[in-house]
Amino acid sequence: MTAAGKQDLTTIHGHKAPFSLPPLPYADNALDPVISAHTLSFHYGKHHKAYVDNLNKLVAGTAHADASLEAIIKATAGKPADAGLFNNAAQIWNHTFYWNSLRHGGGGAPGKALATRIEADFGSLDNLKKELTQAAVTQFGSGWAWLVVKDGKLAVTKTANADTPLVHGQKPLLTIDVWEHAYYLDFQNRRPDYVAAVLDKLIDWGFAEDNLG
Ligand code: FE2
Repeated sequence: MTAAGKQDLTTIHGHKAPFSLPPLPYADNALDPVISAHTLSFHYGKHHKAYVDNLNKLVAGTAHADASLEAIIKATAGKPADAGLFNNAAQIWNHTFYWNSLRHGGGGAPGKALATRIEADFGSLDNLKKELTQAAVTQFGSGWAWLVVKDGKLAVTKTANADTPLVHGQKPLLTIDVWEHAYYLDFQNRRPDYVAAVLDKLIDWGFAEDNLG
């Protein structure tokens, strides 16, 4: 079952240049008051859009001009000469995944399939939330906290800057953006409060469950 209103990310992530900014899966005030429409308008309309515009410029005339977004991310990861391509491509992917990891009226309890996996691999939902919180608040500087499938088990991980579990053999289930641009207008320096509010009120366990496959 696909979570209500969610997008076909396989199609979006398979797009080729020229890339376009994927539409938000909800209105720009849908996450208010945790994430205000003001934050969303800058985060989506300026930051996410800039990654798309930059990638289109960087990819033109290169060997990646006819590659999908995911192919570009995988081909450029870990290559210093391709850092610009990787950073912009991965940030497009990460942000689209982030928007879909949230929903109006989120939080609460996961569905049965995901809840069973959480119980088996973390002991309880509370333990998972504690690990996600710890990853999100201890990521030094900019980055992301993730719930992933790693070696067949659920796991929490964090990545710096544009880095993404996609290039580390892990399957992302959901993510929380902990770059300052994600929360500074609403929470200033209080990243822990932003993370707690996201987990309590916005996180879309249905999206994570869909990604279990
Ligand atoms: Fe961001």
